[in-house]
Amino acid sequence: MLYKGEWNPNELDYRALAGQWHVVCLSTDVGADQPKAVRLLGEELVLWRDDQGKVNAWKDYCGHRGAKLSLGCVKQGQIECPYHGWRYSSQGECTLVPAHPERKGPSSQRLIFRHFAEERYGYIWVSLEKPLRPLPELPQWHDDSFRKVFAGPYLYNANALRSLENFIDASHFPFVHANLNGLPDAPEPLKRYNVKEDEHGLHSSEICVFQPYGDHRGIPVNARYTYSVLNPTTAYFVKKTGETERFCTFFNATPVDESQCVIWLIVAINFGQDLTLEQILSRQNIVFEQDRRIVESQRPARLPLDPHAEMHVVSDRMGIEYRRWIRALGEAASTNQQSQVIESVSI
Ligand code: FES
Ligand SMILES: [Fe+2]
Repeated sequence: MLYKGEWNPNELDYRALAGQWHVVCLSTDVGADQPKAVRLLGEELVLWRDDQGKVNAWKDYCGHRGAKLSLGCVKQGQIECPYHGWRYSSQGECTLVPAHPERKGPSSQRLIFRHFAEERYGYIWVSLEKPLRPLPELPQWHDDSFRKVFAGPYLYNANALRSLENFIDASHFPFVHANLNGLPDAPEPLKRYNVKEDEHGLHSSEICVFQPYGDHRGIPVNARYTYSVLNPTTAYFVKKTGETERFCTFFNATPVDESQCVIWLIVAINFGQDLTLEQILSRQNIVFEQDRRIVESQRPARLPLDPHAEMHVVSDRMGIEYRRWIRALGEAASTNQQSQVIESVSI
C-alpha cells in the first residue's frame, strides 16, 4: 500500500524506513481516554489505547467523512470519532453509528488503516508496514548500576537520516562541540577504525578522542567511543571516559517527514551518583543544540545514498557504511514490494 505524504514512498530512503520501528512519542503521552496525533514519514497517525491498555496506531482518519479520529476520545476501550460519534473497536470494526443505533455499523475494513505499534523503554514505537527487524535493544536498560536519564525531545528541521549520521560522526567534535568534545585549535586526527555488520546492525571498533569536557562531570577525558546503528533511525554509543566509567547514549530520530525529525535520547551512566538531573541534561541540551544548527543547514535535506554525490574520507567510514546499509534495506524493501504487486496482479 502506498502512503500519501510529502516523502515520495517510492524513493529508496523512504522504502528503507517504511517497514521499520520508529519512536514516535513517550508511552505517557497516550493516556487511557485521550487519543494522540503524531506524524511519521509524512503520514498523520492517531495513537490510542484499547481496554487492554494496548496501543493502536491508525491513520488519523474516519472513513465516514474523513474527520481526524485524534480529535475524538476513547470510550469503553473503543475510539469515538468527534464528528458523528461513530465508534471503532481495536479490530477496526465499526460498532456504533449513533444516528442508527439499532443497525450494525457498515464494514470498516476498507476505511481503517492500521499500522504496527509496540512499547519499550518508555517509548511508543510504530512501523507503518510490517516490521522487518525486531525492536532495538538498549543493553543497560535492566542494569541497575546504570542511571538512566531521558533527554529531549529535540525538534530538528532536518531529515532523520542526516541527524542519525551526525550522531555517529566523530570527526565533527572539535568544530561543532568546540572546547566540549574537542579542541578547535588542535583538532585530533582520527585513527583508522573498522565497521562490521551483523544481524543487529552496524558496529564500529573503538574510536579514541581527547575531550576537554568529556562527560557530565565536566572534566577532561580520553574518550573511547564504540558506535552501533541498531535500526535505520536508532543508534547507540558506549563511551568509556575512565577505567570503569561508561557513558552510553541510545538515540532515536522520529522521521516526521523528509525535512523534520524529533530526537529522543536515553543516557545511561554508571558514575557520578551525585550529579543532578540538571547537570546531566544541560550538557545534553548544549550538544544537541550545537548539532541542530549544522544538521538543519545540510543540503540536500535527504541523505544522499549515491556514493558519488558527496566527498568522503577514511574517517567517514561509519557514515559510508550507514548509507550503504540504508540503500541495501531500501532496495530489498522495493524488491519485496514489487514482488507483492506482481503476486496480487497474477491472482
Ligand atoms: S466523520 Fe467520523 S463519524 Fe462521521
Ligand atoms: Fe554532535
